[in-house]
Amino acid sequence: MTDLDAQARAILRGNDKGGYTLPTHGLYPYQWNWDSAFAAWGFATFDNSRAWDELDTLMASQWDTGMVPHIIFHQPDPGYFPGPDVWGTGQSPATSGISQPPVAATLARLIWDMDPQAGRDRIAVLYPKLVAWHRWWHEVRCTHGPVAIIHPWESGRDNCPDWDIGMAGVDGTRVGPYTRRDTGHVNPDMRPTKEDYDRYITMVEYGRSVDWDQDRIVADGPFLMADPGITFILLRAHDDLAAIGRALGHDVSEIEGWAGALRAALPALWNDKLGAYDAKDLRTDRFAGILGSGAFLAYLADAENPALDTQLMRVWNAVTYGIPSADPESVSFNPRKYWRGPTWPVVNALLALGFKGSGRTDLAERLRSETETLIRQHGFYEYFDPLDATPCGGADFSWTAAIWLTWARHHPDTALKGAA
Ligand code: DGY
Repeated sequence: MTDLDAQARAILRGNDKGGYTLPTHGLYPYQWNWDSAFAAWGFATFDNSRAWDELDTLMASQWDTGMVPHIIFHQPDPGYFPGPDVWGTGQSPATSGISQPPVAATLARLIWDMDPQAGRDRIAVLYPKLVAWHRWWHEVRCTHGPVAIIHPWESGRDNCPDWDIGMAGVDGTRVGPYTRRDTGHVNPDMRPTKEDYDRYITMVEYGRSVDWDQDRIVADGPFLMADPGITFILLRAHDDLAAIGRALGHDVSEIEGWAGALRAALPALWNDKLGAYDAKDLRTDRFAGILGSGAFLAYLADAENPALDTQLMRVWNAVTYGIPSADPESVSFNPRKYWRGPTWPVVNALLALGFKGSGRTDLAERLRSETETLIRQHGFYEYFDPLDATPCGGADFSWTAAIWLTWARHHPDTALKGAA
C-alpha cells in the first residue's frame, strides 16, 4: 500500500458518518446519492461489508414512489443551503425532492464481483429496491423517451452548459431572500453564479409548492430537459441490474423492456448539426447545441459511433488532463468553473468503464494515467482544470478517493473485474 492509498482510505474513513459518507466536510455535509454509491465502490477495496452498508443506507431513504432522493439530510447542518426546510418534502429522515444519476446498480455489480460470496445476501436485499427505483425512472422520468430531468441538480452536472437553454426559461427574479453557503467553503469563482442559484432555488420552491407531485412537475414545472448523461447511465444500469437479477434467479424481462425502450429513444438525442448526442429542452423541443461529458457517457452504454469518436478526440486533445466536462472550443468553456470545463475523476472513471467495455483499452489507459497524474500532483480534489491541472472545488473528496482506490491508481494486486 502506498502513501496515497493510505490517504485515500483515511479520507473515506474521515468522511464516514456511520453507515453513510459525506462527499466532503463543510461544502457537502449530508449523504448525496451518486457520491455515496462511488464511496461504496471505494470502501469495497478494503472493507466489503462497509461498502454494502453504504448502499443499504442510501436505499433506506427510498420514497414510496420508488424515487431515491439526491440528498438525505441525516443530521441538521447550518453550513449548507438549501437545507431540509427549503425542500420541505416531509420525508423522515428529511430528503431533497429530486433524484440523481442512478449509478448504484452498476457499482453494486462491481462490488459484488469483488467478493461474490460475501455479497450475495447483501445484493439480494438491495435488488428489489433497485428495481423499484429503475421502475420510477422508467415511469416518471422517461415519459418523453430519453431521461428527462426537472432540475439541473438531478443530472449531477449542475451548471454544465447543456442546461443554459432550459435555465433561460426559468424566472429567478422573484425568488425569496436566501444566503448561499457553498461560496463560504470554496473559491466562489469555481461555483455556479448568483443568477444560476436564483433559478435553482426558484425550481425548488416550485416543487415544494406542488408537494413534490412529480407528474405535475414534469407536466408544468419551470424546467424540463432531456439529459444524455443520465440516459446513458440508466441504460447501462438497467443492463447491470438485469445481470444481477439473472444471477439471483429472477425474471428480468421487465428490466429488459425498460432498457429496450430507452435504447430505442436514443436517436431523439442525436443532434446532426452538432454531430453528437445533445441535451434537449423538452418545453421548446430545442437542442442545447453544446457538447459535454454527458454525451460522451454514450461509451458507458455501448451507444458510441464514429462521429462521436471524432468529437471525443477533438475535445480530449484540446486539453492535457482528462476529458473536460464541456467543449474547450465553445465560448462558454471555463476550465475552473464546476461543470463548465473542469475534468472530474469520477466521470473519467465511468467513461473508462465504457471504453474498456467496448475494447478501447488504449483510451481507458490514457484516461486512467491522466487522472492518476492529477491526483498524484495535487491530491483528492473534487475536480481539476484540464489545461494546467489546478485543483478545484472541495478537498479530501470521497469520490475522488474512491476512484483512486478502484481505478486511477495502478494496482495489479487488486485489479477489479469489470473495472477499467
Ligand atoms: C450543491 O449544493 O451544489 C449540490 O450539487 C446540489 O446537489
